Amino acid sequence: MDRIRICGGVPINGEIPISGAKNAALPLMTAALLSAETLTLSNLPHLADITTLANLLVQHGVEIRMNGAAAGDGHIGRVLELSAGTITSTRAPYDLVRKMRASILVLGPLLAREGRAEVSLPGGCAIGTRPVDLHLKGLTLLGAEIDLREGYVHAAAPNGLVGAEIVFPMVSVGATENLLMAATLAKGTTRLVNAAREPEVTDLALCLTSMGARIEGMGSDTLIIHGVERLHGAAHSVIPDRIETGTYAMAAAITGGEVELLGAKAEHLRSVIEILGRAGVSVTETNRGLHVKRADGRLHGVDVMTEPFPGFPTDLQAQTMSLMAAAEGAAMITESIFENRFMHVPELCRMGADINVHGASAMVRGQPSLTGAEVMATDLRASVSLVIAALAAQGETVVNRVYHLDRGYERLEDKLAACGARIERIK
Ligand code: EPZ
Repeated sequence: MDRIRICGGVPINGEIPISGAKNAALPLMTAALLSAETLTLSNLPHLADITTLANLLVQHGVEIRMNGAAAGDGHIGRVLELSAGTITSTRAPYDLVRKMRASILVLGPLLAREGRAEVSLPGGCAIGTRPVDLHLKGLTLLGAEIDLREGYVHAAAPNGLVGAEIVFPMVSVGATENLLMAATLAKGTTRLVNAAREPEVTDLALCLTSMGARIEGMGSDTLIIHGVERLHGAAHSVIPDRIETGTYAMAAAITGGEVELLGAKAEHLRSVIEILGRAGVSVTETNRGLHVKRADGRLHGVDVMTEPFPGFPTDLQAQTMSLMAAAEGAAMITESIFENRFMHVPELCRMGADINVHGASAMVRGQPSLTGAEVMATDLRASVSLVIAALAAQGETVVNRVYHLDRGYERLEDKLAACGARIERIK
């Protein structure tokens, strides 16, 4: 199993190309199931999760062709052409779904297009139980009959889905995406109230619109979808990854470096830019992306609470904790989205951080310095928070279980090494 070795203490300086967003790319790929014509997606990141979903789609009968190259080599990321001319199977099997929870996003499109789907329940994961009840309740309101048997969701709508009003009791990115896709082919109008407003949801809505869907309220918490008979082919470019952007901004900040994040969009990161500003990090827009520089002196502790967009993203909580672990003063970090997303805390403490968890909050008392250690992590963002801490720590850190990083960060070690980090992958 690969590991990553980092010798800390070197400022991260230079330019980092930001890849296409993983969490936008995954739902966009499943949208290909909605049409018999070809959906061409560009600026896709080269990541393990993209391959996992491609394998699932192929198994449903989608033909996939790939060209282009990885981002950062002067190209704009990979291009995938996805053609779901005939759906050959409506079953998403356990062995593929268990590898990645986002596989549940095939449910809405398969049901809308084929009138049936059998999708394995994804099960819990390292950051919480993560049920899919909101996806299932919403589809039931659109007229689907849903039955849970032998670990699978069996969904049927032999006469097609019918538009309805769905009021989400809490904000869910995945449930919003699944229902948005399903509603595009339902008869009549659907209103999704208290819908997620994440940029990835808006990117999906834009792509669906290019495919012929009729959607109002994009970017707001109420989406109105007027169902159409069929969707057609389209070409769509995936938005830049705001979580990758925030991660590298924090890597520069913790090491006292200065970076330009190429292709990054400030409008996707307002809450993060605000917190970084209060911590002593300036983030300004350039004509190529975002420029990040830490002010002279140490970072300041700032309280942070994760919230649905436009609030502070849970996917940057772990990285922020590393930053605060090396800041001056204390910071209270509260996780309001997932119930178990502090698995990085014991590992950060092994690197010299002073963090106490009380329920959904963590009190971080910043230390003058962190120290390298052998560490391992349980999920993608926890792993990268250890990389960030290691970049600033004295001595050597070895991060185990690198496969977590490969799920969501394209060429992480190359991008950081190009900015001066002493980082290498050990095979
Ligand atoms: C998406 O997950 C992202 N994944 C996650 O990114 C991200 O952390 C999360 O949104 C929140 O922003 C993808 O986009 C592929 P949710 P998703 O439904 O859609 C509860 C990363 O590191 N809930 O918005 O699964 C749920 O348990 C990842 O890249 C229900 O109770 O998240 C959670 O507490 C990890 N019932 C909260 O809602 C449901 O039916 C928000 O989850 C659905 C969700």
